[in-house]
Amino acid sequence: MTRDKVCIIGSGNWGSTIAMIAGQNVRKHADAFDERVPVWVYEEMIDGKKLTDVINTTRQNVKYLPGYDLGTNVEAIPDLAKAVEGATALVFVMPHQFLDRCLATIEGHIAPGARAISLIKGVDVHGADIHIFADVIQDRLGIRCSALSGANIASEVAAGRFSETTIGYRKGFQEDGVLWKKLFETPKFKVQLIEDVSGVSLCGALKNVVAVAAGLSDGLGYGNNTKSAIMRIGLIETKNFCQEFFSDVLPETFLEESAGVADLITSCLGGRNRKTAEAFVKTGKSFDQLEREMLGGQKLQGIHTAKDVHIFLEARNRIGAYPLFDKVFHICWEDMDVNTLTDDL
Ligand code: NAD
Ligand code: 13P
Repeated sequence: MTRDKVCIIGSGNWGSTIAMIAGQNVRKHADAFDERVPVWVYEEMIDGKKLTDVINTTRQNVKYLPGYDLGTNVEAIPDLAKAVEGATALVFVMPHQFLDRCLATIEGHIAPGARAISLIKGVDVHGADIHIFADVIQDRLGIRCSALSGANIASEVAAGRFSETTIGYRKGFQEDGVLWKKLFETPKFKVQLIEDVSGVSLCGALKNVVAVAAGLSDGLGYGNNTKSAIMRIGLIETKNFCQEFFSDVLPETFLEESAGVADLITSCLGGRNRKTAEAFVKTGKSFDQLEREMLGGQKLQGIHTAKDVHIFLEARNRIGAYPLFDKVFHICWEDMDVNTLTDDL
């Protein structure tokens, strides 16, 4: 049996957590995976040293996941083309805004028989066209791409707090799900498989918009009833959006999978989108400024997804059907008074 060679593409807070888990699991499943886990790291300087050198000497991603030993078989590589050389199990885990450039770099350099999985939470919108990133990766690279998403605040997963996640695999390709489960599951990080790449991806993207709404509500001091209402309405808008625009989404993904309701809840309680949205209301600062001040290089997704969803719904003339998504867009991007958050919901 040939062993899969893993490559992790991305090394932020979640990327580093996933690299650490994959590094441990390839050793546990030495029959299935090559022991070495290259990780593409976007190079930057930390106190005069290259981040890749710091990771490879200290074994820690001191900027994005300080305090955790990634393991001696996890190797930081600054050259993306080199990192993916020979890899047959490609894990995409970067903020979505950087994906396009990464794909351009590796197109035409993918090993035969390679498969991919997307851990990216966002949607790719061009006017009236919308795609999940697993489809973007699949189409650009010509390889099958699964999706992983769930209630997975990275710091909690890294700390070994019991968490669940969902892997969506392509219709008829359960073996892909089995491969990825082997790479990611641990006793404290439980993986469920479902034949639903679209539902898993879309729930992961749209819950970030709902989490922004929850943070705005927290900033206004509205309390638990309002936040629960936002979660409920957000889940309904998510479900309606998926079912209106993606015919292959399975209904059980919303309520029975970690990628559905559980991720929405954890993101509305914790998470970076919630936290910065609360600060947006309390400080009056812009999201750009708050991202710089509060997140130490980590990136926000929710406000960008709110904008992408708005562009798409406007192009389809369907904005009126998604009042919560639309309210988040107007408050975050068009200076709408945040006190109108719950009007017309
Ligand atoms: P992050 O927000 O922690 O880190 C930002 C990353 O972007 C860093 O690795 C940085 O090196 C990189 N970067 C900065 N500028 C860049 C550039 N110009 N080109 C390329 N890369 C650049 O990232 P993350 O938390 O690993 O998030 C990756 C994806 O995982 C996102 O879609 C996110 O929604 C999703 N996710 C995150 C979490 C979490 O708790 N952090 C959990 C689940 C899913
Ligand atoms: P934030 O990006 O809001 O931190 O959410 C992380 C996440 O996706 C948890 O599942």
